[in-house]
Amino acid sequence: MSEGEIIYLDHAAATPLVPEAAAAMADAYRDAPGNPSAMGRWGRAAARVLRQARERLAHVVGVHPDRLLFTSGGTESIGLAVLGSLQGRAGGHVITSALEHPAVLGSVRMLEQRGFEVTRVPPERTGVVDPSRFAAAARSDTVLACLMHVNNELGTIQPLEAALAGVKERAPRCLTVVDAVQSLTRLALEPDRWSADLVALSGHKIGGPRGVGALITAKRRPEKLFGGGDQEWGVRPGTQNVPGVVGFAAAADHGEQTRPQRAARASEVADAFLKELAERVPGAQVNGAAEARMPWILNVSVAGLPSEALVRGMEEHGVCVSAGAACHARSQKPSHVLESIGVASHLGTVRVSFGASNTPDHARRAVEALALTLQRYALP
Ligand SMILES: Cc1ncc(COP(=O)(O)O)c(C=O)c1O
Repeated sequence: MSEGEIIYLDHAAATPLVPEAAAAMADAYRDAPGNPSAMGRWGRAAARVLRQARERLAHVVGVHPDRLLFTSGGTESIGLAVLGSLQGRAGGHVITSALEHPAVLGSVRMLEQRGFEVTRVPPERTGVVDPSRFAAAARSDTVLACLMHVNNELGTIQPLEAALAGVKERAPRCLTVVDAVQSLTRLALEPDRWSADLVALSGHKIGGPRGVGALITAKRRPEKLFGGGDQEWGVRPGTQNVPGVVGFAAAADHGEQTRPQRAARASEVADAFLKELAERVPGAQVNGAAEARMPWILNVSVAGLPSEALVRGMEEHGVCVSAGAACHARSQKPSHVLESIGVASHLGTVRVSFGASNTPDHARRAVEALALTLQRYALP
């Protein structure tokens, strides 16, 4: 389905490839078909393209290229950070928040099964974790603390600097991991200011290809999770996805350069949505505190219809949104994020997430689709 046939408002699930990334990838497929670890001329050409992509992305995120590891996406980056940093350790204490992505919660659960003790700090009703509460969870045996930058369901921005610096004060040897998958190219990435040792990134949320990601590491890299060659310093063995990382770096570069204009547009689109929502669906509740939200993601609950029916009804009216995070949209389980901030379970919820191509008119038509869906199907 092309974007033209439907108003696509599910950019927090995946963004269309930006032309800059598509062009760079086409060049890489054509000019660098070899294996970057091979010795011959083709191998050297692929290695050069890979190095340039690493340098380009490193420049965008403001770190030395040696600190960037390429992976297959945000989930793998997080798994490598969380599990790879504690390889060989029998136990210890880990802190995370209750509104993390399943990539974090799942990896942390694996640590728990291996004997680690885990504290999951609940967020406030605002959808934001209280930084002093997070930091207060740290103990002398805390080995890892993991907090996301922007929540993928609510769009709320977490207070990384205060939370992670507070943890480091109490547990100076604790490693800190940040999931910045939703914030890359939307907010400034400042690993050093945040006291973040490892930062996970993904390509397909920023106009890059799916199935590519990166991990910013600190001085000490995590240990590999499986065996293989010595690619990515031996930490992430396996032939790199050269066209993929080229597209990722190009999308990140383009996204960073256009950040101010895109942020202004996102605010305009979100404002149009909220204004129309207040008029057409006055009973709707927007989850997550307004002052803590990025404009790119809005999470809206209404009474009268379950989430799945809302999503289907809106799609019938030509608007694509999601019932929550894409990765558990099909499970029909209540969202752990909404539960953690106390959203009533009888409400139906849609996540509306904007991209660079959206306009205030798209936002108004999305509200119209929601209002028509409710009028047509909802019980009084
Ligand atoms: C906040 C957050 N973290 C991690 C991920 C996982 O990234 P990927 O889909 O690249 O594995 C996602 C994707 O939905 C996300 O939104």
